[in-house]
Amino acid sequence: MEEIKKVFDESIQGSALILEPSADGKKKLYIESYGCQMNFSDSEIVASILADNGFNTTKNIEEADVVFVNTCSIREKAELTVRNRLKSFNKYKKQKPEMIIGVLGCMAERVKSQLLDEEKLVDIVVGPDAYRDLPNLINQADEGKKAVNVILSKEETYADISPVRLLSNGVTAFISITRGCDNMCTFCVVPFTRGRERSRNPESILNEAKDLFERGYREVTLLGQNVDSYLWYGQEGLKKEYETLTAEEKTKCVNFAQLMEQVALISPLLRVRFSTSHPKDITDEFLHVMAKYDNICNYIHLPFQSGNSRILELMNRGYTSEWYKQRVDAIKRIVPDVALSADIIAGFCSETEEEHQDTLALMEYVKFDYGYMFSYSERPNTLAQRKLKDDVPEDVKKRRLAEIITLQNKHSLERNQGYVGKTFQVLVEGVSKKSADELQGRTPQNTVAVFPKEHYNIGDYVNIHIHSCTGGTLIGKAV
Ligand code: 5AD
Ligand code: SF4
Repeated sequence: MEEIKKVFDESIQGSALILEPSADGKKKLYIESYGCQMNFSDSEIVASILADNGFNTTKNIEEADVVFVNTCSIREKAELTVRNRLKSFNKYKKQKPEMIIGVLGCMAERVKSQLLDEEKLVDIVVGPDAYRDLPNLINQADEGKKAVNVILSKEETYADISPVRLLSNGVTAFISITRGCDNMCTFCVVPFTRGRERSRNPESILNEAKDLFERGYREVTLLGQNVDSYLWYGQEGLKKEYETLTAEEKTKCVNFAQLMEQVALISPLLRVRFSTSHPKDITDEFLHVMAKYDNICNYIHLPFQSGNSRILELMNRGYTSEWYKQRVDAIKRIVPDVALSADIIAGFCSETEEEHQDTLALMEYVKFDYGYMFSYSERPNTLAQRKLKDDVPEDVKKRRLAEIITLQNKHSLERNQGYVGKTFQVLVEGVSKKSADELQGRTPQNTVAVFPKEHYNIGDYVNIHIHSCTGGTLIGKAV
């Protein structure tokens, strides 16, 4: 039986999850993940690599031989959370000195020597492209040697590794389709911590999705830092632009729209989601595929970051506020009942009060279903840190962020109120957190719906008539 314990951390998008399948024998791995969905997905790859090398996972840190923390560097607060967590492991290590503690993921790339040499918080440091080296690194650490591999790869996509579904409810799963990012948004550490963009072999993606479906899963989410720039041209390797492909590569080419169509065709009973979309790259071709297949969920996470074109240019986002609005118009035209969410940053370098108002105005224009909202946090070595001044005072950032959150809460509630009286197909994912007599799942638009259990089961599709709501949840009954 697997159990999932959530460690809530408001500083990072998503939350930390402790993966806890019970197991007997073998060496024991305990792993926690912080940050984005990609990290959670990577932890499943790590567990798979170690399962092939004599490890089982444990929910009990005290009995672990190896403790891994898969880390996030996106904002300063995320790193602080992880650092405190690593410090808290000292007490276990005192009781069990042979315990190996390792840091994986983005912080491994960013602060490797600090964690290993200066603070002596960890025994192993492994970047996101070096997980195949983990068995070897654990051996090195066992021998008391420093164990570091933070080499970023031009090819690694872990295409052949079948992830161990550690967080699983048995219904929904993530599938990575690209790794890294080439966009170089000036505020963002990801291109430095996760390296250059690579697309994964579509055949391996389709096989993973088919296998999940055959094992009873009913929803897959295709993951990438920028899924719209997915492009397979016949071999593993760095992203290439379509125009630069050879004639032969063009014949083998699979773009994101084509990949989505192939995944959607696996079965009408397999829901397909995707994240994250980029406003500069989302194509009409893809939107038409989305509209064509009922099982592609009508929900797009489309970060806009700022509603002001000068700030967008300083962020190197590759679009203007006008362009973003036009993309939203196209989305709503081609996929009429679509839900949209966004990432928004308050108080980026030199942002004026009027420019902040442009962000609120863009929110009013789109009326997002949800928002992931942050105040700007300067990250070392990013382009913004090197070239721009982080000059919006902290209290101003906080106030602007509070205004953004208040407006988003209003929009979320209005959107949910608009769903009352309608019926949605909900995929049942689990028992409601509030009552064992209720089930919960999500609508295609990604809104959580709860309803009386009756005779329904996890994994069922149920049509739910919505009779009331809160800002975050729809409440209904099966029809
Ligand atoms: N400060 C604040 N927010 C950031 N994000 C990325 N980098 C930073 C930063 N330095 C946000 C962006 C991105 C999301 C994943 O995190 O909104 O889309
Ligand atoms: Fe960071 Fe921009 Fe890439 Fe997203 S698209 S990961 S914000 S550089």
